[in-house]
Amino acid sequence: MKKILVINGPNLNMLGLREPELYGARNFEALQKFILECADEMGLSVELFQSNHEGVIVDKIQAAYKVFDAILINPAAYTHTSVAILDALKAVALPTVEVHLTDISTREDFRKFSFVSLYAQKTICGKGFEGYKEGLKYLLEL
Ligand code: DQA
Repeated sequence: MKKILVINGPNLNMLGLREPELYGARNFEALQKFILECADEMGLSVELFQSNHEGVIVDKIQAAYKVFDAILINPAAYTHTSVAILDALKAVALPTVEVHLTDISTREDFRKFSFVSLYAQKTICGKGFEGYKEGLKYLLEL
């Protein structure tokens, strides 16, 4: 059974409350439940991880080396700022999918660039919860 580490970055724990016109009305618990159900259907083993702290996310990516087969990550705001997360992903060199609930290419200019995209094998944007499912499917079929 493939082991996937699912990482959600800062403020994603505020889903439901946070700008619902952009991110939807469903909360973070619903997202986690959705991911676990998708993983179950696909026969994947998934560990869910969320942090609001860049260094904690870097530590988690480093610890994934030789433990997980792949990473699915929504780096949230760190997408656009974090060389450290990019470098950690490159260091462990696991297959990685980047997911965003919204379409970052059609939002503010500062969201158009993603450091994580410089490493991720696939980036899925603007599909809401479904993007996580598509990402898991991609990693399953790799
Ligand atoms: C996000 C997009 C980012 O620009 C933003 O900072 C987030 C969420 C998304 O899922 O659409 O926190 O990654």
